[in-house]
Amino acid sequence: MTKVFVPCDAAALSMGADAVAKAIAKEAKKAKADVEIVRNGTRGMLWLEPLVEVETEQGRIAYGPVTAKDVPDLFKSNFLAGKKHKLRQGLTDDIPYFKNQERLTFARCGITDPLSLEDYQAHGGFEGLKKALSMGPADIVAEVATSGLRGRGGAGFPAGIKWKTVHDAKADQKYICCNADEGDSGTFADRILMEGDPLCLLEGMAIAGIAVGATKGYIYLRSEYPHALVALREAIRVANEASWLGKKIQGSKYDFEVFVRVGAGAYICGEETSMLDSLEGKRGMVRYKPPLPALEGLFGKPTVINNVLSLASVPIIIAKGGEYYRDFGVGKSRGTLAFQIAGNIKRGGLVEKAFGITARELIEDYGGGTLTGRPVRAVQFGGPLGAYLPEDKLDTPMDYEAFVAEDAMVGHGGVVVFDDTVDMAKMARFAMEFCAIESCGKCTPCRIGSVRGVEVIERIMAGESPEQNLELLEDLCTTMTDGSMCAMGGLTPMPVMSALRHFPEDFDRPARAEAAE
Ligand SMILES: Cc1cc2nc3c(=O)[nH]c(=O)nc-3n(C[C@H](O)[C@H](O)[C@H](O)COP(=O)(O)O)c2cc1C
Ligand code: SF4
Repeated sequence: MTKVFVPCDAAALSMGADAVAKAIAKEAKKAKADVEIVRNGTRGMLWLEPLVEVETEQGRIAYGPVTAKDVPDLFKSNFLAGKKHKLRQGLTDDIPYFKNQERLTFARCGITDPLSLEDYQAHGGFEGLKKALSMGPADIVAEVATSGLRGRGGAGFPAGIKWKTVHDAKADQKYICCNADEGDSGTFADRILMEGDPLCLLEGMAIAGIAVGATKGYIYLRSEYPHALVALREAIRVANEASWLGKKIQGSKYDFEVFVRVGAGAYICGEETSMLDSLEGKRGMVRYKPPLPALEGLFGKPTVINNVLSLASVPIIIAKGGEYYRDFGVGKSRGTLAFQIAGNIKRGGLVEKAFGITARELIEDYGGGTLTGRPVRAVQFGGPLGAYLPEDKLDTPMDYEAFVAEDAMVGHGGVVVFDDTVDMAKMARFAMEFCAIESCGKCTPCRIGSVRGVEVIERIMAGESPEQNLELLEDLCTTMTDGSMCAMGGLTPMPVMSALRHFPEDFDRPARAEAAE
């Protein structure tokens, strides 16, 4: 029996993975070959999808990107024995893009059958939860604090501190809410994890529940992720059946149930308090803080809100120890981050690396430069509210503090590349327009400011009183930064001002070199 892996990840499906799997089954039947097709998650090398892998004695051999039309030819070349073919990429583990990654959170992704408990456990699954069941809540919280894990959703708040607040709160009911809204442009790591290793997220949530005394968990999933929804629901079913979730997990005293809720589609519902409103069945509006959700969150009860990747990093932290995880990374940015390289890039995909790698390494060594072959001009880091940095800033290490020093942010690890044809005034206008469309409308600086922002930038672009309008734009940005209730309005000035600062020539200002003279 030869095992052939064809990803069921949404990116691979969009490139015809189902048709490829069907074609392989058909050709195998014709050739009377004994083949088992496993629908795995993606390895994250999205430019090679669908990436078909064949299990051989040397390891898994990769072929990609494969179309259904290539399949008869692959059989002719005896790809089932790992033989030569123009699409052969060699041993998957040796593909440079994959080989040099540090896969902690994504260790199983693309390797296992996402919904097989057996496969999950054969690759270290539930080791963290097993250990957590015998550790006691306070020790689990301490271990997460030791790891230095910071929230992967964008703000980078230390997970250990948040968990301790909820642990210490007294209440008859507490909740774990997983933020799976993943609204940032150019990001897809949460999706890849939920489709490729959903049990890892459930394990992380169960550990969080034990740690803080929560018995119920909700995953708030964006509606644009139908494949992740199917994977999560099935993973919850199998985990319940095998007593890894539900009442008295593995015969212990701990109960933990998980439910999935699908959002209706609004960027602001990724903001944690808005997400809580939406989970409660209301329109997603940002809540005033205090009270902190850790004390009065879902249905007014103490709630841990964490991003998918924060929670999915917990099983390995508990299994291998906080110090093991903390040994990766630099400064106060510990562990690894799943960088998502997107936009105008030759080799787009997911790269899990320890903090400290430079943006240039990600874009040039991993990404292979722009798809158009033109020079990189600007890169937006950390989603639509993140800064645009110019090419000469690409040696900045990917580290929360180093990015703050550049008036930028690492955020959820999104890296969106633009070549030299980009018009940065248009990008600045887009940032304001995005805010105008996605604002929840609760506070004036954001609701009105973003609309005025679009108008002011349009006047600058049309050359109308540029001096006054630029001054007005800066003033408006300061008001939004200082006066907005949440980071939606508070951070929208970041892409706008970074465009203005680094690319003044696109606003008909003297280029930096000339300006310095
Ligand atoms: C406008 C806006 C959108 C956000 N979208 C997301 C999102 O899609 N996913 C996410 O995990 N966090 C998002 N956040 C951050 C959350 O508010 C919150 O910080 C996070 O879920 C906490 O989890 P963490 O500490 O594990 O990162 C968003 C914040 C803002 C202001
Ligand atoms: S900043 Fe914008 S999104 Fe945030 S509360 Fe104010 S209006 Fe709502």
